Amino acid sequence: MQPLQRRQAIIVLDFGSQYSRLITRRVRECHVYSELVPANTTLAQLQQNTHLDIKGFILSGGPASVYDEQAPTCDPAILHCGLPVLGICYGMHLLAHQLGGHVAPASGQREYGPATLETLADSTGDPRYFRIFESIDASLAQTYPLDQPVAAKPVRVPVWMSHGDSVDKLPNGFKVLACTDSNPVTAIANEQGIVGLQFHPEVTHTPQGKKIMQNFLYRICDCEPTWTTGSVIEEAVEQIRQRVGKERVICGLSGGVDSAVAALLVHRAIGNQLTCVFVDTGCLRTGEREQVIETFAHHLHIPLVVVDAHKRFLARLADVIDPEQKRKIIGEEFIRVFEEEAARLAVQGDSITFLAQGTLYPDVIESTSHDTAATATRIKTHHNVGGLPEEMALKLVEPLRMLFKDEVREIGVALGLPEDWVWRHPFPGPGLAIRIIGAVDEERLETLRAADAIVIEEIQHAGIYRELGQAFAVLTPLQSVGVMGDGRTYANVIAVRAVTTGDFMTADWARLSPDLLARISHRLVNEVPGVNRVVYDITSKPPATIEWE
Ligand code: XMP
Repeated sequence: MQPLQRRQAIIVLDFGSQYSRLITRRVRECHVYSELVPANTTLAQLQQNTHLDIKGFILSGGPASVYDEQAPTCDPAILHCGLPVLGICYGMHLLAHQLGGHVAPASGQREYGPATLETLADSTGDPRYFRIFESIDASLAQTYPLDQPVAAKPVRVPVWMSHGDSVDKLPNGFKVLACTDSNPVTAIANEQGIVGLQFHPEVTHTPQGKKIMQNFLYRICDCEPTWTTGSVIEEAVEQIRQRVGKERVICGLSGGVDSAVAALLVHRAIGNQLTCVFVDTGCLRTGEREQVIETFAHHLHIPLVVVDAHKRFLARLADVIDPEQKRKIIGEEFIRVFEEEAARLAVQGDSITFLAQGTLYPDVIESTSHDTAATATRIKTHHNVGGLPEEMALKLVEPLRMLFKDEVREIGVALGLPEDWVWRHPFPGPGLAIRIIGAVDEERLETLRAADAIVIEEIQHAGIYRELGQAFAVLTPLQSVGVMGDGRTYANVIAVRAVTTGDFMTADWARLSPDLLARISHRLVNEVPGVNRVVYDITSKPPATIEWE
């Protein structure tokens, strides 16, 4: 077997900034692999990852002040190991503080928002300090002679500041590279590549931020842009082959993009040693089962078993009102069906020893961090339908474990997954069962399926499906009076929900146009039997959640 090559990596230490993940993603967008680790991770711990060739560190921002009693610190070995370090905001204060400089506590309010950074002339003319701002093509002050070294030409660039504490005494060997009107020490560096930035290069409000990140990666850390879709696929395939060998793998398809891409990668690696299982719980959307068969069995030629288990799911869901109870029932039943299928497949061939899952990097980060996002996800038992039934003792293959959603999408496209799959909105594991408020039965499922299909169809027609994080119909437990023709009706109220969101932890209700809402409403009451009223949900998350349940 070929040993896997060590992968160049930038380690981001998470000091609690809302942008920590974004920093990691930005590094990867520059085609350098990056991992986010808790702030207290030591150099010795990081060096145990022998598959990583660590090229540098980024210390994220964070809400603390270096003088807080509980202020998180960085393992000093990281600052003294000779590798480049980029400290952003709190990260800058921390490295200055830990290396012998001084940080002035915020005197008044913290200052957030746009600012103009101006680089300062370097009297020594040593370009090593200025690598972070090299080739920043902002409005150069044209009065400076053209024969000056490029890095030393002052530039003015818009940046996004978050400025509370600030560095007022530099550690030995550091220089000030830039200032703003309100902050004389906006960027610092030493010659070996320890850099501190008071502003946030990772946010889009800093238009030159990508270039600054690239400078850190390529000019200071000497990274190569090797983290590409092609290399990720190649490496994942090799890893799966090494882990699985000649054994068999089962993969539960949920209808979403993650399990689909996980299955595609495993299939690319080990071909027909993989069998995919799709369980029809009866709580799926219109045409979902057919689409899975069409895409996986017919289009991608992946061995697929479809289990129609809707009767047993609906029997267990009868008269259940509580959404947590619905989740529990669907989760348990799913595992049972899955076990039976695995046992059946084992009888037909060799036993199955691996389960492939589409676990993503944010799930991994959340399970190891203490941030509020992690707490927030525990508000609900988000059981992972398709999750590992423990008593089956299957070993896990999780090829997406280190990937962000946008990377998974790119891999999906590269592996031939149709566009409409790649951009599909997430759908909860318990499916329509939690979008029917109250008891679930075949008739109510039919009503909701028809309504949901209309909502999605109209949103697609309007060309805004991709702009929305999620859009769907909810069948409320309300009946209300209406008139149709000459008759009085007493029928269901459908709620339409459409949200924009980045990470699903917060969301805003989408400002759908009145015309679009009118079309949706008109079609719902005219085409879906048993519906006579439509409402649009105008609540953000928080305080509401995305699903109604
Ligand atoms: P909420 O409703 O908590 O939803 O704002 C956030 C995201 O999670 C999805 N969701 C679920 N996914 N099992 C899942 O697999 C569940 O039980 C579940 N509940 C909510 C929801 O669709 C949204 O994308």
